Amino acid sequence: MQQFIESFQSIIDSQLFAQQVIAWQHRHGRNDLPWQNTADPYHVLVSELMLQQTQVTTVIPYYQRWLERFPTLEQLATADTDEVMALWQGLGYYSRARNLHRAAQQICRDYAGQIPKAANELREISGIGAYTAGAIRAFAYDLDGVIVDGNVKRLFSRFFAITGDLTSASQQRLLWRLAEHYTPPTDNRRYAQGLLDLGATVCTPRQPRCTECPLQQHCQALQQGRVDELPERKLKTQLPIRSGYFLWHASATGILLEQRPNDGIWPLLWCLPEVDQQQLMNANDWSEHGRFNHTFSHYKLQAQIVIQSAAGQTSIEPCQGRQQRIIAWHQLSSFGLPAPIAKYLSGHLPKPPPST
Ligand code: ADE
Repeated sequence: MQQFIESFQSIIDSQLFAQQVIAWQHRHGRNDLPWQNTADPYHVLVSELMLQQTQVTTVIPYYQRWLERFPTLEQLATADTDEVMALWQGLGYYSRARNLHRAAQQICRDYAGQIPKAANELREISGIGAYTAGAIRAFAYDLDGVIVDGNVKRLFSRFFAITGDLTSASQQRLLWRLAEHYTPPTDNRRYAQGLLDLGATVCTPRQPRCTECPLQQHCQALQQGRVDELPERKLKTQLPIRSGYFLWHASATGILLEQRPNDGIWPLLWCLPEVDQQQLMNANDWSEHGRFNHTFSHYKLQAQIVIQSAAGQTSIEPCQGRQQRIIAWHQLSSFGLPAPIAKYLSGHLPKPPPST
């Protein structure tokens, strides 16, 4: 393994690599993102958790709203879970919101509210993995944090002409070893931002701008004419399709919602009550109210919304242990709802009574 890694490391001197990334970032990188004019570790933590799996342009308004509502780690730590989830509504991957809330509580309890600097301590905190620990070290403390995200993987896979499945354990190990080797001892904030910026604006997935790249002289994929082939794409497997059934029980004043459990899809968000398919098949006093589809990372949900007829004999029971509440239409915005459910509701709001 060592010899194998050294063969990549001989492609370019680590100081030169970092210098080129840093100089390019200074002149051509993104320098006006809202989380860049702060080194407050709490701001960095919020931005990095939001930026996992979500585009910069989507994150910006959420980031700003978040810091307006929870300006400090302590305020987040003592906030109500429902409010935390409501503020995350629409960003998706809701476990990030729960983790951020828990992280704030953990840091207040174990570190007197100061986000630690050591990678091993950061990794102990809820929601902080290897990437986020490195990003906090680099962006908050300007220390030698190592970062490997999708942008860095693509850039490295081209620069070093790394083939194969980049998600495999061996390729992950290789990418992290290279990332460690090329992380400079100083100017880490700019270096880390430079890597992310290069991946986002120059070494893009399609039609990369190689002529603008500061690393073009040593880029192995460019020299071998293989930029378009790398990183190698995994054959997309078709996502499985699952059906979901949700109850519509509404009046002119409000609608019945349930809080989803801590695990599974949409944890802790307020949703139309989910109905067990078998129970629905046994009842015959319902009709379809509507449908929507939603794609998760691991499956496609085909949702059917059902409504019980007024004269119905059998009642459709909620899933066990879920809290249900009638929520007034005008109060919906203070509850965290899954985005597709919020969209469905907004298309089916009751009509206001005619004015007299
Ligand atoms: N993605 C993750 N962290 C980022 C940052 N600091 N700037 C831009 N994109 C990012």
